[in-house]
Amino acid sequence: MKVIVTNDYEELSEKAFGIMADVVKANPSAVLGLATGTTPLGLYRRMIEDCRDKGTSYKGVKTVNLDEYAGLTAEDKQSYASFMRENLFSGLDIDLKNTYIENGVAADAEKECQRYNGLLDTLRQDIQLLGLGSNGHIAFNEPGTPFEAGVHVVKLAESTINDNSRLFERREDVPVSAYTMGPKNIMNAKKILILASGANKAQAVYGAVKGEITESLPASILQLHPDCTLIADKEAAALL
Ligand code: F6R
Repeated sequence: MKVIVTNDYEELSEKAFGIMADVVKANPSAVLGLATGTTPLGLYRRMIEDCRDKGTSYKGVKTVNLDEYAGLTAEDKQSYASFMRENLFSGLDIDLKNTYIENGVAADAEKECQRYNGLLDTLRQDIQLLGLGSNGHIAFNEPGTPFEAGVHVVKLAESTINDNSRLFERREDVPVSAYTMGPKNIMNAKKILILASGANKAQAVYGAVKGEITESLPASILQLHPDCTLIADKEAAALL
């Protein structure tokens, strides 16, 4: 795993943008695996500015998102589908028909997992962007998730519900389960870019980079990927 340590969040976002922009410029019909959460926001802002000011086009790009809360429609303002429209897609020239995410309100959860697995087989990610949970999760693969798991429904860990409650009015509004790509779908990406910012990620960054490769720390599987870059600001990298 290649590790880049930056002085601050802005530099982290700038470096991440450089890597993402290279993928899009090299292949205007690239498949981008995307993440929600706070960490990618600086990167997404730069992608929007670059599209607006420098004309980098996303017309041929397709995106696949990691995860979606179960029980929320794509229109629900707390859904990850809404998050992506609001924080990225609305600022790009991308065709929304080319942006894919799990259906949080599918009638049959198992069928929805099969559908999304099948989609990911046909849309292999040229790059997969990841954030890192404070417990070492990637996407919503909580500690203990089998490394060979594909798309599945997960019950969220208490620590993840606590972390995510900052984005909801009340803690009890945070959904308790979600659809997620599994480690297998993530590892299938041609390139992986994982971002971590802040002291609360330091333990997880250490485990991901230097710890034992174990299902107890899902991000540790990334050590086995042939082209994975982790960018951490100095707070997140403090234990390396
Ligand atoms: C989001 C996702 C999560 C987040 C992680 C870090 O799609 O899959 O794994 O990347 O929880 O979240 P932030 O960036 O908010 O610290």
